[in-house]
Amino acid sequence: MSKFIIVSNRLPIKIEKEQNQWIFSPTSGGLATGLKSVHENGKSLWIGWPGISSDDIEKEEYQLLSKDLLATNFKPISLSNEEIDDFYLGLSNKCIWPLFHYFKQHFQFDEQQWESYVKVNQKFADAILEEIEAGDQVWIHDYQLLLVPEMVKSVRKDVTIGFFLHIPFPSFEIFRIFPKREELLKGMLGSDLIGFHTYDYQRHFLSSVRRILHLNVNFNLIQQTDREIEVNTFPMGIDYEKFENTAQAHTKSKKETYSPLRIELEKHKELNHGKIILSIDRLDYTKGVINRVKSFELFLKQYPEYKEKVRLLMVLVPSRSNVSHYKKLKRETDEIIGRVNGNFATVNWTPIWYYYRSFDFDDLIDLYRLSDIAMVTPLRDGMNLVAKEYLATRINNDGVLILSELAGASKELHQSLIVNPFDITALSNTIHEALNMPYEEQVERNIELRERVKRYNVTFWSETFLKELDTLSKKIPIHKTKRVTPQIISKFEEQYSKANKRLFLLDYDGTLVPFNKNHKKALPTQTVLNVLSDLNQDPKNKVIIISGRPPEFLDQIFKDLTLTMIAEHGHFEKEPNTEWIEKNASSSNWMNHVYPILQQFTDNTPGTFIEKKRNSLVWHYRKTDPELGLIKSEELKTVLASMLSNDISLMDGDKIIEVTTSTTNKGIASYDHFSKEPYDFVFVAGDDVTDENMFTQLPLEVISIKVGNKKSAAKHSVSAPQELVEVLKQFKR
Ligand code: UDP
Ligand code: G6P
Repeated sequence: MSKFIIVSNRLPIKIEKEQNQWIFSPTSGGLATGLKSVHENGKSLWIGWPGISSDDIEKEEYQLLSKDLLATNFKPISLSNEEIDDFYLGLSNKCIWPLFHYFKQHFQFDEQQWESYVKVNQKFADAILEEIEAGDQVWIHDYQLLLVPEMVKSVRKDVTIGFFLHIPFPSFEIFRIFPKREELLKGMLGSDLIGFHTYDYQRHFLSSVRRILHLNVNFNLIQQTDREIEVNTFPMGIDYEKFENTAQAHTKSKKETYSPLRIELEKHKELNHGKIILSIDRLDYTKGVINRVKSFELFLKQYPEYKEKVRLLMVLVPSRSNVSHYKKLKRETDEIIGRVNGNFATVNWTPIWYYYRSFDFDDLIDLYRLSDIAMVTPLRDGMNLVAKEYLATRINNDGVLILSELAGASKELHQSLIVNPFDITALSNTIHEALNMPYEEQVERNIELRERVKRYNVTFWSETFLKELDTLSKKIPIHKTKRVTPQIISKFEEQYSKANKRLFLLDYDGTLVPFNKNHKKALPTQTVLNVLSDLNQDPKNKVIIISGRPPEFLDQIFKDLTLTMIAEHGHFEKEPNTEWIEKNASSSNWMNHVYPILQQFTDNTPGTFIEKKRNSLVWHYRKTDPELGLIKSEELKTVLASMLSNDISLMDGDKIIEVTTSTTNKGIASYDHFSKEPYDFVFVAGDDVTDENMFTQLPLEVISIKVGNKKSAAKHSVSAPQELVEVLKQFKR
């Protein structure tokens, strides 16, 4: 039976040694808390790091602990002190984390740390490869493991891989700063399905794929040489029922069962010590802690009547405290909280209650349940589950959520008070608004908010992701065309050797020669010329180059060969040692109308240019920004569509739009030649839409080969021109 494997840097439990005893405790952070319920509900294996250095534990002891973990379906990955420093604290948390959260000023790249990142990612990949069997599914998580998908896929193509990024994917202009940007993207593209919390992150990712890897992206599908990768938005949810049910149970529980924290909170309420504003985060500079305290300080100044009537309860969970920016943040936080408490406290009242520790689940529920306002104002946050957890515990639908517009959750939770966390004045005013929000309005907003959080819970999140992954695993490969294999080549050879009259119809750009940004520089290698020459010297063969290029270009390129050539998609033809003949000459009056339009598009799309041929005009957009190129080409097609008549047509090629006289095309031209002689071996190859005319017009029994991985009517395909040339090389006398 096929297995399901979850992979993340951290396991949801960590091992620590306290008084000579090993303690297993839950880890904090949205990834661990969210996925825990996915793991508990299904039969999956979870691979990850248990939070301890392998240098701090004896081998035998580690093996025993590993056994315990495996019994609950956790497979631990061991990290040494050096790996923790370089891979985890270093590359992951001093480099990728700050950059992806737009903290460019904290970003430090170090080659040695990068090497460690590669090495540890390989360690995770190896651990997956040890477990995996054909048909299994793997779900890899987060920024610490961006290279793992490709490391697994390159070995096991038969395994379906999902990847989910729990943090933002930054805009291209930020992402491009990362020195190993190509490696990161290629690593992620080992997946079959890539998920993000919001559409913005998806958009940013696709834009980087286009601009950095120059891959074709069709809506949310990335075309790789031999497969398609789907990219989609799956906003993560929480285990809503668990939060709601526990909150309900706590309201009904007996006084004797109260925890010390609850006793304190209940006392605060009873004594009417004012409203509680709750803030819960890992102590991380992305969470906007300092701005939050500043805004509370400003609020106390602006609205002195709230003295002794409100309290900010801050829970800051220790996190990554060996990283200098986190240490500095801890000092700054202590200082600013000390300052505010020092300036505003009275004998009966401390404005900020501050806990630097983590709480267990029951305490968290009481914190959420007994606070009047939750202030979730990160400066940047992939999603933020605290906001959703707060809502789930509001069983009476009261309470106010103040939410940063820079948290992924703001895309879903519109009815909260959405704020810009950098605007301290606005934050202070929002605190005032929240404290004064009428009960009815709180209820009205929370009913809708809670419905959303309830429906889009963590099960919905994981199920929709995994369902999609499952669909992809069953999907027939994108090629209905069969990839050319050594066995297929042998069959071709057999047919070839038996035949007496053979015809080769070969497109030029993208088929014999790879594309070049400068189309004048897309030239054949000596190997290509030799292969063509060898084929052409066999008296049984007729080799025809059939291209969209003008006659002059083909003359120059193939001056030393005596080939038959067809130029401008069939408008010109030349037999060996004769002159070019123009076929179906037609009026080119239309060019006078179309040219100015192309000129206008060229003027406002930098990097594009017009190629003028005798029977056609081509607008090239390969050199422009890929996204702009795509938008502009769509616009151009719409403008031109209104001008087309029977005798001109529009061809949407590979990074070109060609307007041409439509009295002929490559299909008509190739059929003309095919029907001239009784050929018993016909081999036709092309890469672009214009070549599809050849594939469809020639009879089914010919050998048709698509170069590249786009959909095609051809029967076979190869990945690139080099591969086609290798096939041609096999045809020997
Ligand atoms: N959390 C916890 N113990 C605490 C405080 C918080 O387990 O003492 C949990 C909290 O319930 C939430 C997670 O930590 O599920 C924080 O996730 P979030 O998405 O808000 O932020 P992240 O830490 O992932 O950046
Ligand atoms: C965020 C990240 C997780 C990470 C968690 C806690 O939620 O997205 O990948 O596990 O923070 O951080 P830590 O560095 O302690 O694993």
